[in-house]
Amino acid sequence: MKTTGNTILITGGSSGIGRALAEALHDRGNRVIVTGRRQALLEEICAARPGMLGLPLDLDDPASLPQLAATVRERVPALNVLVANAGISRQEDMTSPGWNSLDAEAIVATNILGVLRVTAAFLPLLKQQRNATILATSSALAFVPRADFPAYCASKAFLHSWLTSLRHQLRALPIEVLELSPPYVQTELTGAQQASDPRAMALDDYVREVMGLLERGDHPRGEILLERDMPRRWAERDGSYDTIFAALNPG
Ligand SMILES: NC(=O)c1ccc[n+]([C@@H]2O[C@H](COP(=O)([O-])OP(=O)(O)OC[C@H]3O[C@@H](n4cnc5c(N)ncnc54)[C@H](OP(=O)(O)O)[C@@H]3O)[C@@H](O)[C@H]2O)c1
Repeated sequence: MKTTGNTILITGGSSGIGRALAEALHDRGNRVIVTGRRQALLEEICAARPGMLGLPLDLDDPASLPQLAATVRERVPALNVLVANAGISRQEDMTSPGWNSLDAEAIVATNILGVLRVTAAFLPLLKQQRNATILATSSALAFVPRADFPAYCASKAFLHSWLTSLRHQLRALPIEVLELSPPYVQTELTGAQQASDPRAMALDDYVREVMGLLERGDHPRGEILLERDMPRRWAERDGSYDTIFAALNPG
């Protein structure tokens, strides 16, 4: 995708990677719409960057997405980039007597159904544009899971496979399909402690690298991956899957 002159809607734009991407894209001359449930954060983001638009989206509320899609069709019909980035992550211990499927179901609802529904809601509009992009956020954990986040990793593996098929189906249309697969990054995805975890990559550094990859068009097969995550991406092919799985899942 070109990195300037687009009209871009970002789900999960109220914090973390979505917010940082929204700000970087705004600063490069794109019209950006950020969405999420936390209205106060959307207002704060837009107040700091005039021209940015914040619109509510709650993927858990069946009425919310159709409402957002109607508003966008009316107010920003030039929308040509969809960033389906909203996601949640929860640790699960299936050996615990109290374990049930509720966390996994919430993850499936937001990370899988959320992306499918957002894509379905905006695809008709994207098809009307001369150039369009659908970018969805999976994870480097799509390729080798961390076993203490079973449903989360599986949801991202789903997205990797689904985006591969979507890209193939849309190949004759001017709609590019990109997959963003972040490593462990300093956001509050798993709680406040992650934002200062020294083992996680600094958010600014991550988004700077992503913008560089986008600007250079350096995303083979539509996959936006840092160089350091290539061993995980290709673990099965390279015969290193068991070694990497063991390193990620000690004991
Ligand atoms: N940080 C990492 O280490 C990492 C690594 C790999 C992949 N990722 C992926 O990156 C994406 C962004 O995560 P992040 O790390 O930036 O964490 P984050 O700061 O917690 O961002 C998650 C975003 O999703 C939105 N969201 C969650 N549930 C929603 C719902 N039901 N309806 C609408 N919006 C919802 C949140 O907005 P509201 O709360 O305002 O609704 C928030 O803006 C996720 O898909 C995540 O899986 C992150």
